[in-house]
Amino acid sequence: MTSSFIQMEEIFNRTQTALNEFKDIITPVIEKAKDDHERLYWHHIYEEEDHRSDRLDHLLPQLNKINRNEGTVSTDDREFVYLLQDISLEKFGLHNFLEHLDLSLYTFKDTEFEQPIQKLRDMTAEDYQQSKQLLERLNEEFKMADYQASVPTDEKEDIDTSLKVEAYSQPAGEVEKKEEPNKYKNRKKLTVGSLKHS
Ligand SMILES: [Fe+2]
Repeated sequence: MTSSFIQMEEIFNRTQTALNEFKDIITPVIEKAKDDHERLYWHHIYEEEDHRSDRLDHLLPQLNKINRNEGTVSTDDREFVYLLQDISLEKFGLHNFLEHLDLSLYTFKDTEFEQPIQKLRDMTAEDYQQSKQLLERLNEEFKMADYQASVPTDEKEDIDTSLKVEAYSQPAGEVEKKEEPNKYKNRKKLTVGSLKHS
């Protein structure tokens, strides 16, 4: 258990540094936006990350307190239950950050920022998967049900697959394996030959 909270604190510290680096990259883009659409697009992303930073400012000292063995660790303690929910939400925050970084890679492709953003992106993808595992462990240990508000659309069971981005629902290695049959299916559908023979 203790190690889970220590790893959580490390992940959230790391992602806060990363989000600040990202904010610095996109700030000039907002300032120099050529139209309202571009400005709103980047402002939206900036604002969400800024808000996440404020939430982490609140969460990190609480985690630190537990890790210094000063905080209460019991589900009888209401504050502790809130803390677990906050951690759960920040797992979602990592997922959202991952999407923001991927969106920005479209804009910053072939610029000096592509590499640094790609680095943040890969780190965040790993941290997201790790935070999912850590949370599962904590939820089991404290007999907590998975907090629905922290489940991204990509991972909800009652959502149509056409609304999901498969790349965000599982570790990179597994996506490739799963995508193979779909690619085959699409190719088959689109070939003139296959249409003639069907
Ligand atoms: Fe967003």
